[in-house]
Amino acid sequence: RAAGEPYRPQFHFTPERNWLNDPNGLVYYKGEYHLFFQYNPYGIGGAYKSWGHAVSRDLVRWEELPVAIPYADGIEIFSGSAVIDWNNTSGFGVDGEPPMVAIYTGAHGVQDQRIAYSNDRGRTFTNYSGNPVIDIGSNDFRDPKVFWHQPTGKWVMIVALSGLHKVRLYSSPNLKNWTQLSEFGPAGAGTGAWECPDLFQLPVQDEGGARKWVLTVGVNGAPSGGTGAQYFIGEFNGTTFVDDAAGDVPPLPAGTLIADFEGSNYGGWTTTGTAFGGGAVAGAFGNQNPVTGYRGAKCVNSYLGGDGSTGTLTSPAFALTKRYLNFLIGGGNHPGQTCVNLIVNGNVVRTATGADNERLNWTHWDVSQYAGMNATLRVVDSHTGGWGHVNVDHFLLSDDIVPSEADSTLWMDYGPDNYAAVSWSDIPEGDGRRLWIGWMVDLRYVGSIPTTPWLGGMTLPRELVLKRTSAGLRVAQRPVEELRSLRSTRFTHPSGSLAEVDAWLANQDVPKLFECIIELEVPVGESAGLRIGTTTENTKVTWNRATSSLAVDRTQSGNVGFNGSFPGVYSAPVHDAGDRLKLHLLVDAASLEVFSADGTTTLSNLIFPAAATKGLQLFGAPGTRVTAFDLWELGSIHPA
Ligand code: FRU
Repeated sequence: RAAGEPYRPQFHFTPERNWLNDPNGLVYYKGEYHLFFQYNPYGIGGAYKSWGHAVSRDLVRWEELPVAIPYADGIEIFSGSAVIDWNNTSGFGVDGEPPMVAIYTGAHGVQDQRIAYSNDRGRTFTNYSGNPVIDIGSNDFRDPKVFWHQPTGKWVMIVALSGLHKVRLYSSPNLKNWTQLSEFGPAGAGTGAWECPDLFQLPVQDEGGARKWVLTVGVNGAPSGGTGAQYFIGEFNGTTFVDDAAGDVPPLPAGTLIADFEGSNYGGWTTTGTAFGGGAVAGAFGNQNPVTGYRGAKCVNSYLGGDGSTGTLTSPAFALTKRYLNFLIGGGNHPGQTCVNLIVNGNVVRTATGADNERLNWTHWDVSQYAGMNATLRVVDSHTGGWGHVNVDHFLLSDDIVPSEADSTLWMDYGPDNYAAVSWSDIPEGDGRRLWIGWMVDLRYVGSIPTTPWLGGMTLPRELVLKRTSAGLRVAQRPVEELRSLRSTRFTHPSGSLAEVDAWLANQDVPKLFECIIELEVPVGESAGLRIGTTTENTKVTWNRATSSLAVDRTQSGNVGFNGSFPGVYSAPVHDAGDRLKLHLLVDAASLEVFSADGTTTLSNLIFPAAATKGLQLFGAPGTRVTAFDLWELGSIHPA
């Protein structure tokens, strides 16, 4: 397949031809991992959604099979899941063999939940005659993920009410009759529709068999700027999912707090403006808006700008004693009309406007040019008519930028290209892994990806666990160990200075497709990293010890011009690194996946380098050392 297809992934699943999106129906049965996927059988555009199909015996080498559930009668077969109905609760089994049951969304204007069953190991499916099995008359209700809940002896479905930013849970004794259990959300962050939820238990590593439930859901507005998955860690009792962190107030970073609107604490701020409806309240404080961007953040519940007037809140004067002024701002219930001004010497020197209705974001102003001067803050609510919330909080002077992790949303992946990921069902108990795979793209530019005759592929399959970090529990990922079967020539170097290892590397014929495990030791306050490719065309991975972050820069990675939102630099928080950080990199013909910080930091990225581009260089501050280095050439999964 390589000839004439320079961007064809060599160890990631792609369909031979046509459009692919979400992984669907991930299930293991009789020695086969099934990977169904959103697929257009007729072309390279996203239409006629059907379930394509591939199987693998090792999660590495995939065999593409005929379409399993085709678009028919004007009904698209949207995303969903599959289970093995071991006890034949559905009655679809024959000859004592359990059926494989697919649960998907039928999209035909309305979105409803449907089932189909297979008695031939997923090769062909029959739609259930009683479809749909859930229809609430909604056109925004999709992506059912079903699992067997042992303690209650029932099937449980998690499904998205996408536009409402909620998931709903249902249960069923037989996969046909469903009863609503509960809802979860809105919660966390993101601006886009909630899609492709999943709910599963993960072991907490090194904590004596402890397990927690994890709820994942795809959204737009991930840290990369586009689509990604946020997650919540908590408990599920068979009826309700409860987020452990709900209501937690993450500690604020060190700094000088100018205002933190707790309870009725005005902190000396004064208000002006006409109260709505002639009432007396102008600038009451409270947590009355369902602000979700920063758990525990309070906002000003204002009647500032009622009836066409403009209301303001003004802070007492304070000295700009530190480099940054950080604060949280959201749009209030009148998006775009919350505004913050910084006033120095009577002039407005900075302005910020809240962008959306439901999320508080950190704004950071570098105010070093006014060092030591006095300033005041003014919060303006310019909406007209009705009461309003002005979502601002935590005005904080600091020497360093408040890290984005202080925005307490948890993200599965900080790279741009991992969406709609879900986990495998029915992994045998003796294996016990939670295996997870995503669609490797960002919705901002999916339509202009420069590949043909296929468009879309999957990430590497990963194993998920929970790990305890100083910031709390985090999901950790690592590529499945089966991928080691692709390793061939090994390049290894003992611990040495960065310059020494880089000079050695310059004399190696570093293969184009590789897996590399490197540990960097970086002096305090410094950074170091790798360039994958040549000096002029490369993807750069940088560990910045000073900001505890890991960044992938693909602005020079090759073909980046096909869409304005493709080139970029993506940054992830790094927990508990100390002076050494291990990076695990996998480089395919058109992607780079980075796993680091014990798997708690992941960045998945598409790249489109020229066919001839290969190589690896190191860079770093003086004193940087490479304390471990291994690199393996990786083979192709495609028949030669
Ligand atoms: C996510 C998604 C799902 C939907 C499917 C349709 O990418 O929008 O919500 O089921 O794609 O192809």
